[in-house]
Order: sequence, then structure tokens, then C-alpha cells
Amino acid sequence: MSQLSRVKISALGTYVPPRLLTNADLEKMVDTNNQWILERTGIRERHIVDKGVATSDLAVEAAKKALAQRGLVPSDIDALIVATVTPDMMFPCTACLVQNKLGASSVWGFDMNAACSSFVYALQVGTQFVSTGAHKKVMVVGADVMSSIIDYTDRATCVIFGDGAGAVVLEQSEDDSLGIIDFLHEVDGSGGTSLYMPGGGSLHPSTHETVDKRMHYVHQDGQAVFKFAVRKMSEICERLLQRNGVKGSEVKVFIPHQANKRIITATAERLGFHLDGVIINIDRFGNTTSATIPLAMNTAREEGKLQKGDLVLLASVGAGFTVGATLLRWAF
Ligand code: UT7
Repeated sequence: MSQLSRVKISALGTYVPPRLLTNADLEKMVDTNNQWILERTGIRERHIVDKGVATSDLAVEAAKKALAQRGLVPSDIDALIVATVTPDMMFPCTACLVQNKLGASSVWGFDMNAACSSFVYALQVGTQFVSTGAHKKVMVVGADVMSSIIDYTDRATCVIFGDGAGAVVLEQSEDDSLGIIDFLHEVDGSGGTSLYMPGGGSLHPSTHETVDKRMHYVHQDGQAVFKFAVRKMSEICERLLQRNGVKGSEVKVFIPHQANKRIITATAERLGFHLDGVIINIDRFGNTTSATIPLAMNTAREEGKLQKGDLVLLASVGAGFTVGATLLRWAF
């Protein structure tokens, strides 16, 4: 990949709402049990918002933390990309709402939706603005209130998802050896109906009928998504490493999208990664869609597993299907 200048992640902030939804809580809501959820997904608990709290609220909290970490004020940011599948509303875009709540006077921005790959895709789009010199500082926020589109009578989906947000600041790297090295993204639209929310768009605008048919919730063919994810996540990572002449053993930290612990461990196994360097926090947060990767970056930092100079591989598979991988050297 040719870049005019190397771009680094210079700050990270995350936020999850305080309210917990545990497996014990879910046992009271649907026909499930802690053992099944833990064994099949690796999830113990997830955070969910209280009524009236929206994606922009979580995004703002994460953004504030990222700014504070780098000693920046909102007006230092030139552009803001909000990665989300659960915007506050159809329009205006969540980036506008976040801009206003943050008081980020000189920001322009927009939303990006590539389902669970939204964060890695937005990261790359933001990187382009900085690498070309168009902008000095770009903020990318991955934020989702998945609880707003989950059917809490459907045991196959409601146990998986949670709410959360993570924000990063992108800046030019003074040290050319640190920052984002390369990326590989792919979409396969033939998988569109394996994971989707059919209602509320231009094809099926909201009506009493779409509500009665539960079309405003996540619908998923779990096994189809599982098989695709395990195959594609390892395949895209292998191709990205190969074209950069990097051996799997050189990757210090693997930060995958957190959809299912079994998908993560199967992918890591295929890639020959030692589990010590594989970041897993799905037990505490569930699948927060656009927020999983920044939340996992934060977990890696908290656990002392992510240091300046470490070679890091990000990977995701999501509805669409969308597939993404990013190779970088951590810069702070
Ligand atoms: O970011 C991308 C988002 N999505 C994914 O990555 C999802 C990928 N898929 C998965 O994570 C898994 O497929 C699930 C966790 C969704 C399901 O696990 P599974 O091992 O594939 O289960 P299954 O769908 O094959 O169902 C096995 C059984 C079924 O019962 P029967 O037909 O064998 O009697 C289900 O009805 O497990 C049942 N089941 C449950 N039982 C207890 C499904 N959900 C539950 C539940 N509690 N919550």
C-alpha cells in the first residue's frame, strides 16, 4: 500500500453503560441457561443502556476519554467518522449528533455501516484523510446500542449482543516504523440474508405489519455466520500477513472482532497464534458490533499486553458479509 505519510492511532477511549445484563438475568427472560451461553459463546455478561440513552451518548463518552488521553480539546479534531449499525435515528447521521454534543466546532463527519467490520473500515477511511495530508487529526468512533434492535424473546440472538463504544484519534506518525501498515477488506453480498435487520429501510418501511412480523430486530442464521467467520477471518489475515512478508509468529497481539469465543479461538488456532497474545473480552461485553475492537484494544492495554512498537493484527467479519483485517505497529 502506498501512503504519503504513516498514520498512527495516537489515543484510545472507551465507554460502556453501567447496567449489566448477566446470563442469570437472561435465564429469567428466555429458555436458556448460563452453561449453554458460556460454552457456546464465551459470554458471561454484557452492558446495556437504560431507556433514552442512544448511540451518540456512548460515542461522546468514548470520544471525551480519547481526547483527554491525548490532551486534546474537541476543536482539535478535523473530521469524525462514527461506525455504527444503530444510529440514533435514520438521519441526521450520528456523527452530526456527536459533533454537537461534543462541541467539536471545526469537525465535519459522517457515519459508516459495514456491520461488525464498521470499525476497521472506518479506521482505514480515516487513515486516508491523514495520510494524504488533508487532515491532521481524525477521530473514529465505533459505537452501538445493539439492545435497541435485539428481540429479547429470541434466545438465539439475545444472549450474544451488548452495547458499548470506543474511539481512537488518528494522526501522522513522526516515527515511520509506528502506525498503520496495511489493510485488506472484502465484501460478499451473497451472505446478506444470513445476518440482517429487514425492517425500517426503503425496502420495508416501518408499518404495523413490519412491527408485527418482528422485522425491526436482528435476524441471524447463526451456523452460516459462524462457518463463514471462522473460514474468512483466518484467510484474510493470512493473505494480509503474507503480502507484508510477516510470519504469524511475529504478530504480538491479535485483536479480533468479538462475536463468539469459539470463532476467535478457532481463528487463532488456524493462524498458529499463541492464546497469550489473543485478546478476548467477550465474556464481559458480548458482541458490541462496531465497538468490539476498540474495547478489546483497551482490554489489551489494561492487561499490559499492548505496548508501543508491538505488531498488531485486527480482524473482523460481519453482516453483509463484510471482512476486514488491519496490520499496524502500536504507537503509544
Ligand atoms: O458479528 C457477527 C455476529 N454473529 C456471529 O458471529 C454469530 C455466529 N454464530 C454463533 O455465534 C453461533 O451459531 C450461535 C451462538 C448463534 C449459536 O450457537 P450454535 O452452537 O451454532 O447453536 P445452534 O444454532 O446450532 O443451535 C443448537 C441448539 C438448538 O437447539 P436444537 O435445535 O438442537 O434443539 C438451538 O435451539 O441450541 C439451541 N439454542 C439455545 N439453547 C439454549 C440456541 N440458542 C440457545 C440459547 N440457549 N440461548
